[in-house]
Amino acid sequence: MHSGRWHLKYFVLSFCSIAVQAQWFPQFIGGHLTGTSFGIPGRNATYDYVIIGGRTAGSVVAARLVEGTNATVAVVEAGTFYELSNGNLSQVPYYSQQYSGLDWQSHIESGMFTGNRPLHYAQGKNLGGSSGRNPMLYNRGTKGPYDLWAEEVGDNSYRWDNFFLFFEKSINFTPPDMTLRAANASANYSTQAQQEKSGPLHVHYPNYAQPISSYGPEAYAGAGFSPVQDFISGDLNGYNYFAFAIDLDGNTRSSAETAFFSPAMSSGRLTVYQSSTVRKILFDRNKRAIGVEIDLPGLQPYDLNATKEVILSAGALRSPQLLMLSEIGLNATMSQLGIPTVSALDFVGQNMHDSCAIGGISFQMTTPSQTSILSTEEDRIKADEQFRVSGTGPLTNIGADFASVNVILVATTSRGHVTINSTNVFDQPVIKTNWLSTIADQEVAVDAYRRVLSTVENIEARVGDYTAPNSTILSDNTLLLQYIQDEGVGPIHHASITCRMGREGDATAVVDPKGRVSGVQRLRVIDSSSFGFTPPGHTQAATYGHTEKLVTDVIRDGGYADRWNETVGMG
Ligand SMILES: Cc1cc2nc3c(=O)[nH]c(=O)nc-3n(C[C@H](O)[C@H](O)[C@H](O)COP(=O)(O)OP(=O)(O)OC[C@H]3O[C@@H](n4cnc5c(N)ncnc54)[C@H](O)[C@@H]3O)c2cc1C
Ligand SMILES: *[C@@H]1O[C@H](CO)[C@@H](O)[C@H](O)[C@H]1NC(C)=O
Ligand SMILES: *[C@@H]1O[C@H](CO)[C@@H](O)[C@H](O)[C@H]1NC(C)=O
Ligand SMILES: *[C@@H]1O[C@H](CO)[C@@H](O)[C@H](O)[C@H]1NC(C)=O
Ligand SMILES: *[C@@H]1O[C@H](CO)[C@@H](O)[C@H](O)[C@H]1NC(C)=O
Ligand SMILES: *[C@@H]1O[C@H](CO)[C@@H](O)[C@H](O)[C@H]1NC(C)=O
Ligand SMILES: *[C@@H]1O[C@H](CO)[C@@H](O)[C@H](O)[C@H]1NC(C)=O
Ligand SMILES: *[C@@H]1O[C@H](CO)[C@@H](O)[C@H](O)[C@H]1NC(C)=O
Ligand SMILES: *[C@@H]1O[C@H](CO)[C@@H](O)[C@H](O)[C@H]1NC(C)=O
Ligand SMILES: *[C@@H]1O[C@H](CO)[C@@H](O)[C@H](O)[C@H]1NC(C)=O
Ligand SMILES: *[C@@H]1O[C@H](CO)[C@@H](O)[C@H](O)[C@H]1NC(C)=O
Repeated sequence: MHSGRWHLKYFVLSFCSIAVQAQWFPQFIGGHLTGTSFGIPGRNATYDYVIIGGRTAGSVVAARLVEGTNATVAVVEAGTFYELSNGNLSQVPYYSQQYSGLDWQSHIESGMFTGNRPLHYAQGKNLGGSSGRNPMLYNRGTKGPYDLWAEEVGDNSYRWDNFFLFFEKSINFTPPDMTLRAANASANYSTQAQQEKSGPLHVHYPNYAQPISSYGPEAYAGAGFSPVQDFISGDLNGYNYFAFAIDLDGNTRSSAETAFFSPAMSSGRLTVYQSSTVRKILFDRNKRAIGVEIDLPGLQPYDLNATKEVILSAGALRSPQLLMLSEIGLNATMSQLGIPTVSALDFVGQNMHDSCAIGGISFQMTTPSQTSILSTEEDRIKADEQFRVSGTGPLTNIGADFASVNVILVATTSRGHVTINSTNVFDQPVIKTNWLSTIADQEVAVDAYRRVLSTVENIEARVGDYTAPNSTILSDNTLLLQYIQDEGVGPIHHASITCRMGREGDATAVVDPKGRVSGVQRLRVIDSSSFGFTPPGHTQAATYGHTEKLVTDVIRDGGYADRWNETVGMG
């Protein structure tokens, strides 16, 4: 028996005097019938706000709207709760990368810069979105890119110093517990981080560090890097242990679902339509978004009306897809598919920024790796018990915290795009990443390998020669670049800016600095697709911060976000 954490939590809170043991599934959540929090499939209904996608951004929008207004909110999510559909794998850090049915199974178009390999591009399909699917690394970008973002879109709230409060708002930081971690694996953190206690998303360092990670500091220092206090205070140029979005209570995944979404369900004003796919955003003749059309196989399509706004949070791959299916996009693409145009925005799906993994250098070490620590059934049973009983041991760690010398290109200059070749929302969008297509990215890629070499050469526990790529390849820049393209490069699933934010009047932008879609009303895009600039580092912290900023605008505007001051309200 493993019902979801939130079920247990609310059950215990509200009904602790009733026989807890007798109930397999909670009949009530926060004093309401459990089913009251879920929409009735097939039945048309009306809410103040309708949010498309219950993932990272969508969950935060829903929770903040419920907390900050008296509005009714519906979230339509194609997936379901990962605690109910993936056993306990998504919850346990070490197993968190094993998934089934929680992903959209998209592929990128192969090309000459990726050795013509067909590559899977992951996107979470569950409540919590990719925060329910990712390996939970939590780090923020750096100061410069946010200042540039502010300049480019003409809005000072994106300056690092101003934006910081939106980062802080989401998280509850806890320093590493050095009584549980190995003595030679101390992680640093800033006093700034220590002050970030007010949000619901738990960020901390696992209660276990891999033995091989302890070789990191010396190796990086030997190659000329300096230690940084942490990766959340605006400086990523150095080494440290990663912090993760892991709940202190139980050492399980802390996601947009556990931190934001599930707690908001007890309000009685949040309704979830799970396993439900939006196939179209609906507009009235004044180009106001008035609702969405849902496709649930086996039922007639049905509508949810939105009296205030529709908020699109379907992620970097599917927000542009849905805009195009909803008649917003490049006229030429859409007319080819027979889709009329509500708003001709040529840059929907264009300008995609993406980091990419470019492989790494493999070699043997005398110190055991995490996989070898958990190689036998007996090891795994022991680790399982340690995790359940004392919240310690290898399962509290995702398996890569420091010593992995995988190389990732951030702040890339290559640009990709997302488009559609079908009018059916269940067909895959066409994704082209164009990684390593610019000379600058190619040169940085080769240099990055050189830098990694100078790092791993300082690892005393390394034995033997490099296995992949081998020394012959490593010694020649042309061979090395070819190797990176043919074998090294691959996704780390950080696509963004496919519905790019820009200043008012920028014809290459899709949304304005408040996330409002150009040419229509009452529709915002709030997710990683509507960034104005992609900061270096991983993208979930950037997504949480971005969402906190934009949902503040939604609340401030009171739901009447019409650009042209048309005061006639719908509904
Ligand atoms: C495998 C993987 C590993 C990653 N690792 C990390 C990491 O360790 N650290 C980090 O910081 N970042 C990581 N990232 C990136 C980070 O998770 C994402 O950038 C971030 O979660 C994006 O959030 P989002 O709200 O834009 O989109 P998503 O979180 O993808 O949310 C979109 C949601 O919309 C739903 N949806 C889409 N279309 C429809 C529709 N038509 N109808 C209804 N629902 C729909 C989807 O099911 C999904 O739940 C990783 C991502 C992946 C996929
Ligand atoms: C839902 O609304 C749509 C569009 O207005 C309508 O065609 C459909 O019949 C309605 N469905 C139900 C079950 O009322
Ligand atoms: C939704 O809006 C449409 C168009 O305004 C209207 O015809 C329909 O009755 C509304 N549905 C509900 C359930 O209110
Ligand atoms: C919500 O409604 C209550 C009761 O009408 C009111 O006191 C409160 O101020 C409202 N809150 C918001 C955020 O509008
Ligand atoms: C750190 O300690 C672990 C044992 O806890 C050991 O395996 C590892 O070799 C040590 N690291 C260094 C750099 O000595
Ligand atoms: C932590 O900081 C100390 C002192 O600045 C430094 O010696 C050490 O290497 C740092 N550790 C990491 C993992 O960054
Ligand atoms: C869009 O394409 C259609 C069909 O090709 C054409 O009739 C229309 O004028 C175009 N609209 C715009 C805004 O370019
Ligand atoms: C995870 O679930 C499996 C059953 O599917 C169970 O055997 C195992 O003990 C659970 N692990 C933890 C850490 O709770
Ligand atoms: C449309 O694009 C998808 C995703 O790239 C691809 O799998 C599919 O074969 C394409 N379909 C057609 C008809 O071109
Ligand atoms: C190095 O690797 C390349 C590509 O796999 C291979 O062709 C070559 O024979 C290898 N060289 C050595 C010395 O192993
Ligand atoms: C918006 O419209 C209202 C009602 O017509 C008017 O009172 C108000 O001044 C207008 N605001 C702006 C900024 O034009």
